[in-house]
Order: sequence, then C-alpha cells, then structure tokens
Amino acid sequence: MDLKGAKLTWLGHATFRLETPGGKTILIEGWVMGNPKCPDKEKQLKKVDVMLCTHGHRDHIGDALEIAKKFNPTVVGMVELCDWMELKGVKNVSGMNKGGTQTVGDIRVTCVHAVHSSGIDDDGKMIYGAEACGFVIHLDNGVRLYHAGDTAVFGDMAIIGELYSPDIALLPIGDHYTMSPREAAYACKLLKPKTVIPMHYGTFPVLTGTPAEFKKLAQGVEVIEMTPGQTL
Ligand code: NI
Ligand code: MN
Repeated sequence: MDLKGAKLTWLGHATFRLETPGGKTILIEGWVMGNPKCPDKEKQLKKVDVMLCTHGHRDHIGDALEIAKKFNPTVVGMVELCDWMELKGVKNVSGMNKGGTQTVGDIRVTCVHAVHSSGIDDDGKMIYGAEACGFVIHLDNGVRLYHAGDTAVFGDMAIIGELYSPDIALLPIGDHYTMSPREAAYACKLLKPKTVIPMHYGTFPVLTGTPAEFKKLAQGVEVIEMTPGQTL
C-alpha cells in the first residue's frame, strides 16, 4: 500500500486521522477522548481541519461537538446531522447527502450509501439523525480511500467500486451492529480495493469479528491489521 505522502493513523474503533500531503488534518469520526481503544497520547488532538461523521451513534460522534468547538474544523456529514450540530453551537458545518461530492480543506469527499440506522442521543432523548453514510476521500495525490462507516454489505458497493476505485477500504468487521468478517470479505469482491484495513471490532464484547478470521476469508486483497495509535 502506498499513501504517497499522506499519513493514516487509527485512533481505535472507527476513528482515523488522515494527514494529507498538503498538511491538512482530517479526522474521520468524532469519537476520540471517550473512545476506550484510543491510546491516551492520541486523545490530545493537536489540530483538526476537517471532521467527517458517518452517522449519529455515540461511538461515532460522542466527542464531535467538543472537538468541533475546540478546533473549528469544517464538519462534514449528512445534512440533518450537520444541522443538529449547528443547533448545538458548531460554527462550521458543511452538510451534504448521498451521491454528492464536495471539496473541503485539500480533499474532495463523496458521500456514499451505508446500510445502517442513525439516531442521535440528544441528552437522553433519541432523535432523528439522518441516514447513515460512508465517505470516499479523494486526495490530490490520486489516492482514494473509502471509509464505509457502520454498514451491512450491500450490492451497490459494486457501484462505489466501479465509480471511485478506492485504493484503500476501511471496513467494519466486528459483527452484531455491522458486517462480520464473512460479509466484509464479500464486500471486497464488490469494492475491489487494493488494501483493506479492518475496523469496528473488539471495542465491546459483542464485536466479536477478528482480523485473523477476515484475512482467511478475504481473497486477493491486501489486509493490513493496524493497532490503535499506529500510523501508516
Ligand atoms: Ni452505528
Ligand atoms: Mn458503530
């Protein structure tokens, strides 16, 4: 796998930090300080230029408001999720919807489908959080990265594969709330990425899927098992 000067760090669960060759810091998912898998030294974020949020569940946006208020990144997500954040005092949101692409910082980001639910726990009240989504990130060095968010496998992953040809796919494998290794291995056939980085496993006891199991099932694709805090 060649990120051509970009750097990708796994902060545990579904959260990643992507540093672009142009010097922008992209945070994928807003769950850092409360994330039990995030190493302590990584909980002190230094800067965030863009924050992408796939859906309203706490293990994806649990720290998003705090991060947004501290670093004032452009927050990208489904439009209703961004509207909710704006109501909560976040200044710089750029809501979008599936099928669309926008330029933020020095990346282009496409909002793509995910098969999952998305409520927001708004101080104990469950409210509508728009549909869940995934993102394809197009770096200006030509590298394309697909973060699937939380999702089941779905046939239109083939469209994501054909239209955007992701080099790297970040796929949930933990089971219970998302794909298990079996579905994620099938997703690879549809997406045809060069490299897959498994995520969203092991954080809670019910997330039982393992990278070892996934590696056995995923044929013809490079699987990189990262450890939280590791940078590629
Ligand atoms: Ni979720
Ligand atoms: Mn989740």
